[in-house]
Amino acid sequence: MGNNLIPLRIAGVGYSVPDAVITNDDLTKLYDTSDEWIYTRTGIKERRVVSGEENAVDLGFVAAKNALEKAKMLPEDIDLIIAASSAPPDLYPAIACHIQARLGISTQVPAFDITAACTGLIYALSIAKAYIASGMYKNILLVATDNNSRLVNWEDRSTSILFGDGAGAMVVTASEDGVDDVIAIDIKSDGSIGDLIELSFDGKNCPLVEQYEPKPQGIRMNGKGVYAFVAKILPHYVENLITNAGMKAEDIDYLIPHQANIRIIQAVQERLGYSDDKVVTNIKYYGNTSAASIPLALAESVEKGNVKLGTTAVLCGFGAGMTWGGAIVRLREGIC
Ligand code: COA
Repeated sequence: MGNNLIPLRIAGVGYSVPDAVITNDDLTKLYDTSDEWIYTRTGIKERRVVSGEENAVDLGFVAAKNALEKAKMLPEDIDLIIAASSAPPDLYPAIACHIQARLGISTQVPAFDITAACTGLIYALSIAKAYIASGMYKNILLVATDNNSRLVNWEDRSTSILFGDGAGAMVVTASEDGVDDVIAIDIKSDGSIGDLIELSFDGKNCPLVEQYEPKPQGIRMNGKGVYAFVAKILPHYVENLITNAGMKAEDIDYLIPHQANIRIIQAVQERLGYSDDKVVTNIKYYGNTSAASIPLALAESVEKGNVKLGTTAVLCGFGAGMTWGGAIVRLREGIC
């Protein structure tokens, strides 16, 4: 971006997960599976799920409050809210509008959702970067939240083992010291392979016209197809992102990837030549939390001290669409 554009500072990050834990052993009550099968293929041991009326809005609200607190900002400081979700609990109102109301943010502040599945946070950050760069908005709240446990087909053992619920949030603002915390960012999509992961919400025709057979409910996924596509493109993509930024893998302190499958994470890790302590993984405890996955991994690892601040990280994700993307970011002191 040109020199007259305003740089972005990541001011705060936060996360939230529901309390209920479902272990792999618990899943054996639903279908024929085992902890060994799930763990060796995915790296997942357990996941969190919403219960009762709790949903992605509730999780997103808590993550947003945490991120605001870390950013030392009040809700009234925010001038734009963007929420990213693979499947919001309501198609409307948007999650962002719900969160605006819960935080008591002025009606003068626009709020909208984007759908880029598990790449949602990177898409949202890319949008926020452009808004901040242009001077159009200054303090932007990004919320990435999903309640996959409501959307999987719990009779389908090949998909329901993978997903969990959670939320992550990020407050970004116009940088006042000239340093841009988004060193590089890139987003991609390929709609021609959209049938690899689908979740239909197609309703019914008007009763006065010809009817049709609605698509099956719940997340439908070609697991092998997704795996093959992502394992083929992602390691190379992340490497290119770093090279195109004029950097080398060793210039970056951490890899914070989307938590979908430990073997995909390891393929990226291997390509970058990173030791385990440079790679953030929490898939074991949360499974795939879709849009929440990257900010949840970021905020939790910083909070636990596994990621030190005053460092840099490469974020990368992929998901339904298919979408994928990556960002190289600075993690300043005080963001969590
Ligand atoms: N427990 C036990 N057996 C299971 C099982 C489970 N939970 N799920 C599937 N199986 C069985 C299948 O029925 C099949 O049996 P068969 O050989 O008798 O037909 C066998 O295990 C192999 O199934 P398959 O689907 O080929 O397994 P896989 O090795 O491809 O692993 C995934 C499945 C889902 C773990 C893997 O494909 C994957 O992780 N893909 C990526 C998905 C992803 O990341 N999605 C999110 C994108 S954001």
